[in-house]
Amino acid sequence: MRRSSDLSPEQADESAWWHDAVFYQVYVRSFADSNGDGVGDLDGIRSRLGYLELLGVDALWLTPFYTSPMADHGYDVADPRDVDPLFGDLAAFDRLVAEAHEHNMKITVDLVPNHSSDRHEWFQAALLAAPGGPERNRYIFRDGRGFDGSQPPNNWTSIFGGPAWTRVADGQWYLHLFAPEQPDLNWDNPEVSADLARTLRFWLDRGVDGFRIDVAHGMAKPHGLPDMDVRAEQASGVLHDNALDPRFDDDGVHEHHRMIRKVIDSYPGRMAVGEIWVQGDDRFARYVRPDELHLGFNFRLVQAGFEAEQVRAAIEHSLAAVAPTGTPPTWTLSNHDVVRHVTRYGGGALGAQRARAMALVQLALPGVVYLYNGEELGLPNVELPDWALQDPTWVRSGHTDRGRDGCRVPLPWEGSAPPFGFSSGQGSWLPQPDEWAGLTAERQLEDPDSMLSLYRQALELRKSTEGMSGTELEWYGAPPGCFAFRRKGGGLICALNTSGAPVPLPPGEVLLSSGPMDGDQLPPDTAVWLV
Ligand code: NOJ
Repeated sequence: MRRSSDLSPEQADESAWWHDAVFYQVYVRSFADSNGDGVGDLDGIRSRLGYLELLGVDALWLTPFYTSPMADHGYDVADPRDVDPLFGDLAAFDRLVAEAHEHNMKITVDLVPNHSSDRHEWFQAALLAAPGGPERNRYIFRDGRGFDGSQPPNNWTSIFGGPAWTRVADGQWYLHLFAPEQPDLNWDNPEVSADLARTLRFWLDRGVDGFRIDVAHGMAKPHGLPDMDVRAEQASGVLHDNALDPRFDDDGVHEHHRMIRKVIDSYPGRMAVGEIWVQGDDRFARYVRPDELHLGFNFRLVQAGFEAEQVRAAIEHSLAAVAPTGTPPTWTLSNHDVVRHVTRYGGGALGAQRARAMALVQLALPGVVYLYNGEELGLPNVELPDWALQDPTWVRSGHTDRGRDGCRVPLPWEGSAPPFGFSSGQGSWLPQPDEWAGLTAERQLEDPDSMLSLYRQALELRKSTEGMSGTELEWYGAPPGCFAFRRKGGGLICALNTSGAPVPLPPGEVLLSSGPMDGDQLPPDTAVWLV
């Protein structure tokens, strides 16, 4: 049990259930399909709540399931207050919330405030309206440059490749930082924030416990839409550098987060986490000030290689970023936008061994952990054939960037052939590799040495071990390529060896290790918990 003296005032507040929670990201399309169409859905998630309870997670984050033409698999929202028929309906959502709560799991949902779908009724009205009218003012329409307006209004590029502007029939251009089917909303227009407040209340009233805010460093755009520095483009998709790139992290965005916080504060015990790809701990900290978001996603562990010095720097940065605000840090190794970490760490048996080690590092840290569905099964990225690729990045990049489909392949649940219990139908929206027969949840539940068994043990110990108390770390001296930290409050030690040779273990009794120990030595590519 944690001692309340180890916790900050917010953490000591019982209603702040998220302060050391383990969230599980459900990429809805790929988790479980209840109706045989090859696409995951809300009833599918409900049918697997027993598994999630057994795994031991506290809360789910559901990726967008709202009405959408699916140009970006749901991150193009045509109606933010309804469920797309592909995923179910509002009654299915209500059933899921009720049953998750019976299983003691919180439900958090994704909000997409930076842009809508081009099929949203607002955008359809904007297209029909004349330039300069109120319908266009909900989006960012501008005249083009050049004597005939045939050049885009500025040099901004889309995150998915190509220009961030598309021209409409009457000659004006509209801004889309992502796909053309995702026009950016104009957050200077009060109608836009009033509509988000309505959406927040809609889902809060249906019982959701929190939100993940998509592109939380977007929304506000700088006055005059100045050009970006072309060097920023090479950094596209990674931590955003404010000095080069005015597309994101404009100071005006914080007013919108204060509005979001005000609405959420009127529903006790609810929270929001922002997707914040910014460089600079100081810029990050601004999003988690007491009147803004409760948590910010931190992507530093995603960006660190399997190398002790890099991982330690990522941890120290993440802790430093939130220290001035007193909000808990968050930890993520994978999500639906990045290459799965088994593959990032080298793939195959080595990648899996390292992923096991990093699971123990991540789960030994103070604060909030976000797991991505399938990481508990040790799923690697999948090399998909060209014909299977669906991510808009593939087409937008002129078939040079294969996009994110490889980390979104549906989960293997049971059996020996695709679709491995994912669907009662014949297939799945992205093909699963035959080799996943060895990685099904069914197989791994029976095997005490599986990745799934490691996650289950680690999650159980994270909850029950006194050694996990406290919010601070102290670092021990360690050989090159290794580190060891101790949870200051409870005393648990976590040691990681990324060097090529075994190293002596720090003193203590082994509670859990990511692989076999070598006497009193910690083998390469292994992590251990000691008390
Ligand atoms: C971030 C989401 O995680 C990603 O999947 C999506 O494509 C973009 N935001 C645009 O909404």
